[in-house]
Amino acid sequence: MSVAHHSSADVSILTDLFQPYRMGSLTLANRLVMAPLTRSRALLGDVPGPLSVTCYAQCASAGLIISEASQISPQGKGYIQTPGIYSAEQVAGWKRVTDAVHARCGKIVIQLWHVGRISHPDLQEGGDQHGYTDYPFLDTAA
Ligand SMILES: Cc1cc2nc3c(=O)[nH]c(=O)nc-3n(C[C@H](O)[C@H](O)[C@H](O)COP(=O)(O)O)c2cc1C
Repeated sequence: MSVAHHSSADVSILTDLFQPYRMGSLTLANRLVMAPLTRSRALLGDVPGPLSVTCYAQCASAGLIISEASQISPQGKGYIQTPGIYSAEQVAGWKRVTDAVHARCGKIVIQLWHVGRISHPDLQEGGDQHGYTDYPFLDTAA
């Protein structure tokens, strides 16, 4: 059986991971940050639902949660059932998420996105082709 030997530098890194961290106006309980993960679980109207509340609450012991990317307008949506944060219903849905995280002393920030022209008419209201293109991103014929 091998025995792991740690230098004092290694031990310091391990110890620091669970120490609080000051990030601007936020004080994080530790240095673990949850990466943004698109889940495609938003409800009708792209509203974060109960499953999102449970999921984010379960991760509240991280120093900081970065939410799944969330569109800033209907036109900014690029994938099915991603949440938005432009309607009152969506904001109320996110409030339920943040309340659950804060109740467990967690910190959460939102990742905003507008996917631009990678969107598809099927994801746009009335099949709108706003920003969408059939053409490849790069003109390889040149
Ligand atoms: C299912 C899934 C969904 C993801 N969603 C997002 C997202 O919404 N926003 C983002 O910036 N990155 C997203 N990512 C990228 C992850 O945040 C990334 O994989 C993570 O930071 C780990 O980095 P690595 O894959 O380079 O190791 C996603 C990754 C996966 C696997």
